This record gives sequence, structure tokens and C-alpha cells, in this order.
Amino acid sequence: MKLSVIGCGYLGAVHAAAMASIGHDVVGIDVDERKIAALSAGEAPFFEPGLPELLTQGVAAGNLRFTINMSAAQGAQVHFVGVGTPQQKDSHAADLTYVNAAIDALIPYLNPGDIVAGKSTVPVGTAAVLAERVAPTGATLVWNPEFLREGWAVEDTIDPDRLVVGVPGARTVSATQIVGGLSDMHEDVSSRFARSTTAGSDSTGSTSAALPAEGERAADILREVYHPAVAKGTPFIVTDLATAELVKVAANAFLATKISFINAMAEIAEATGADVTQLADAIGHDARIGRRFLGAGIGFGGGCLPKDIRAFAARAEELGRGESVSFLREVDAINLRRRERAVQLVVDAFDGQVVGKKVTVLGAAFKPHSDDIRDSPALDAAVRLRGLGADVTVTDPQAIENARRQHPQLAYVDDRDDALRGADAVIVVTEWDEYRRDLSPAHASSLVHGKIIVDGRNCLDAAAWRAEGWAYYGMGRP
Ligand code: UDX
Repeated sequence: MKLSVIGCGYLGAVHAAAMASIGHDVVGIDVDERKIAALSAGEAPFFEPGLPELLTQGVAAGNLRFTINMSAAQGAQVHFVGVGTPQQKDSHAADLTYVNAAIDALIPYLNPGDIVAGKSTVPVGTAAVLAERVAPTGATLVWNPEFLREGWAVEDTIDPDRLVVGVPGARTVSATQIVGGLSDMHEDVSSRFARSTTAGSDSTGSTSAALPAEGERAADILREVYHPAVAKGTPFIVTDLATAELVKVAANAFLATKISFINAMAEIAEATGADVTQLADAIGHDARIGRRFLGAGIGFGGGCLPKDIRAFAARAEELGRGESVSFLREVDAINLRRRERAVQLVVDAFDGQVVGKKVTVLGAAFKPHSDDIRDSPALDAAVRLRGLGADVTVTDPQAIENARRQHPQLAYVDDRDDALRGADAVIVVTEWDEYRRDLSPAHASSLVHGKIIVDGRNCLDAAAWRAEGWAYYGMGRP
């Protein structure tokens, strides 16, 4: 199939390359000339395992190309829109400037019958407004949220846990209706639930009769786009636009809540001498809870979870339902407190005398397997320590270049061992294998000046470090 992908940032570049790798003819479009030049040369503008290979393959095979000209979208059957929705400068709400601009620029090139598939994370109600804008062209707008994790983006795109497609239907709720009152939606909850579960539990992917023809057709086209995943039985959930938008923010809100829950337990553990890692293991054995995303530590960061929970809370306020998700403000607050806590552990290790102490910060990326430093707890800790007068050196296997651009005031060292040499204390803030698995306490001992280690990710073997004479401090651990 001929596809266009508007927006070649993290989401779009991976989506374009992944779609080409499963046989589609794909054009990626972005306003950033430098990005387009890099992608056209088969180079990923950011670190993502597996992506450079897919780009090179697709560009060489001729079924993947990149351009700054929106006119190249003309003739594609499906147009994916994956532009950014950052946090607004003066509020927590999502900034829809790029989404609106992308749709407006695309409209002149749409043909009747085309599908516009929104992938960006947007406030619920956005798709209904965009659908009305697109309607006069004869194209159909659907919402197809993306759940990829950085570091596993290629795998998550080609072989996702589930596919969700919101299509315009008889019961599509327009933005004005949503703002006007939720009672209207309540009437339809049971029928919508029936429709979603029917489609979701049917691994052959057939849609229920409740869908109008336009929605049915759009869902079929998306099934064709994702044919390898659909053929292997990946749940394919067809629903209305609002539900599809909400699935994405609800999933991220749940994940963030799970992390902040365990970090709240870490705070209680700190007050009682309990060990949050053992607590997480113990509750995680309950299949209803599960151990994943119960990693207590310095908390979540990145380009999605922090901004998405804030935008969700802001949208809920607009809808008059702020109370329903007011817990997300706590989730955010707990998360930010853990950054302070990690820094405090370093300060306490020096009995408050951190000024002039050489502190090595292991990690800058918001998580391993990524060079992304957006809202990174690791860099936040580094900046705070420097603010307190410590002599801070940061190292990271991938993110130094990005970190240097954002925080030029910090000192960076590429080589891990060079960074550790002469340190009075070490803090692990991104659990790269280079620190978690490959750095032995004995080797670290041969490099540092003082044997203090703060494990901001609870990723080290505390007993092994203590056995080597280190003062080990974990997060929520005695
Ligand atoms: C997230 C969602 O997982 C993904 O589905 C969505 O599409 C985008 O947002 P991502 O931002 O790539 O993906 O990172 P993720 O792996 O979810 O980690 C988010 C943050 O939570 C990281 O800073 C990570 O270090 C932290 N985290 C994760 C914890 O602190 N503890 C955990 O147990 C798990």
C-alpha cells in the first residue's frame, strides 16, 4: 500500500521505517530539512536500536523515502500523522499547534476515500474536531494511537501488544458534546463496551455490525496496513474516536501511577526500615498486580509519561471532571519528590557538606537504550547537585551530546572509568548495563577517591558493594 507519514520525529521516523519493512511504499514528510536529509541518507536522527538498519534497507530498496514537500502525500491511501504534542509553555495542557498545522497542510492533497490516521497523543475530543475539518475532502479521519517504548520502538511498532483504531461512527462524540456534558456519553457506554470487546476479543479482527460503513471500511484498510500483526492474532480493537484517544492517555496514566505507587511505598519503607525492592517482588507475584513497572527509584521521565499525565489532568479539568484524575497530581508530585530524595542521599552521605565534593553521575538519558534526555530525572539530579555546590561529572553511553546541548554548565566525560576516577561519591541514575551489570565494585574501588554509592535505580547488588567496603544507599531500602 502507498502510505505517507507526516512528522518524522521519534514516532514518525520509526513508523515510516517499520511500515516500509513490512512491504509498504512509504513517504515520510517533515518540515525539518536536516532531519529529512539524515533520514534520506539512512541515518537515524536519534539513538534507537534496529532503526538505522531499517532505514538503510528501505531507502536502498526504494520503498522508503523522505521529503519536506507535503505534496508527496498525494496518492497515498493512508496518511499517518505523528507530529509532537508538547506541553504548553505556560500551562500543563498539550500544545496542538503541530497537529493542526500538519492537518491543514495535508488537506489540499487528500483524495476522496483516503484515510488520515492520527497517531499523536492528543487531548480527548481532538480527533472529532479534526474529523470535521477533514470531512469536506471526502477522506476519513481515524485515530490509531501508538504505544511504542523508546529503545524497543521498532519491535513495538512491527509487533505491538494490541492495535487500537478509533473510527468515526454513528455514536462518534464531537468535542462540543463532550465539553457540553458527559451524561450524553453515559447512555452509550454499554453499546460501546459491547462493540469494543467484540472487536477486541476476536483475533480474526472482524468488526461488529454496530459500525457504519465508513468506519468499517477504514478499519479494514488499517487491518491491511498492519497485516503481519493482524495475521498473527494481535488484538485489533475497533472503537470510537474518543475511546481511541483515551486508551493512549489512560495507558500512560496507569503506568505512571504504578511507578509512583511503588515510589510512595519506597517513602514508607524509608520511614520504617523496610525494603521496597523485596516488597515489589512480593506483591508482584500476585498476577493481578505483576512485577513490571514496580521499579522504585528516581522515578519516571521522558517525552511521554510526565507530559501526558499533566495534559490528561488539564483536559479533565476542561471537561469538568478534574476530580476524576486528581490523583495524577499526586502521581506527579511523588515522582518529583524522588528526584529530591536521590540528591538528598548524596548530601546526607557527606553529612551535609557536599560543596566541592567530586560527584560522578552515571547516566543522563531518562532510561537505558535511549539518548533521550527530555525530562530526565538523571540530569535533574545532576543539575541539583551542581546547584548545591558539588563538583559534578556526568557520563552516559549515548546521551552526552544531547545533555551537553541542554545543560552546557555540567561537565561531561565520555568514558565511564575516566568519569569515576577520583570521585568522592557516585550516583547511578540511569540503569545502563555498563553500570548495572558491567561495573564491579572492586573495579570501581580502584578508580574512586571515596567509596560512597547512591543507587538511584535500585539496580545494583547492595551486598556485593558493601562487601567491597562501599557505603551503599538505595531508594526505599535500608
Ligand atoms: C512510555 C510508555 O511505556 C509507552 O507505551 C508510550 O508509548 C510512551 O511512553 P517510554 O517513555 O519510552 O514509553 O518509557 P518507559 O519504558 O515507559 O519508561 C518511562 C520512565 O519510567 C523511564 O524514566 C523509566 O526509567 C521509568 N520507570 C519505568 C521506572 O522508574 N520504574 C519502572 O519500573 C519502569
